[in-house]
Amino acid sequence: MSDTLFITGATSGFGEACARRFAEAGWKLVLTGRRAERLNALCAELSKQTEVLGLVVDVRDRKAMEEAIANLPPSFATLRGLINNA
Ligand SMILES: NC(=O)c1ccc[n+]([C@@H]2O[C@H](COP(=O)([O-])OP(=O)(O)OC[C@H]3O[C@@H](n4cnc5c(N)ncnc54)[C@H](OP(=O)(O)O)[C@@H]3O)[C@@H](O)[C@H]2O)c1
Repeated sequence: MSDTLFITGATSGFGEACARRFAEAGWKLVLTGRRAERLNALCAELSKQTEVLGLVVDVRDRKAMEEAIANLPPSFATLRGLINNA
């Protein structure tokens, strides 16, 4: 099982660039952002390289973030790294 990396704010900028780089390196990714269309498009693209889970969530919503993390599917639940970019 490869390592899972959690990146907040992956729909543009540094977060998106990190997602691309770590996908190339074979990491499984959990990606977040508020703009669902952009997040889904990125997940669809990167899923050709690795396992990717996209979560549409606002990092300012603490409860939603806690729920999202608590309910990660088992194959993504063991996080190895966090890029808290958003
Ligand atoms: N660019 C620079 O020169 C620079 C320099 C130093 C530090 N930084 C820092 O690096 C980080 C990223 O910068 P960037 O230039 O890559 O910015 P960016 O292109 O605006 O990207 C920000 C990302 O964060 C997400 N985001 C913003 N607010 C969010 C929220 N409340 N909940 C969830 N996601 C949220 C955005 O996605 P959605 O809109 O889809 O939610 C987007 O994916 C920021 O913290 C910035 O302050 C940037």
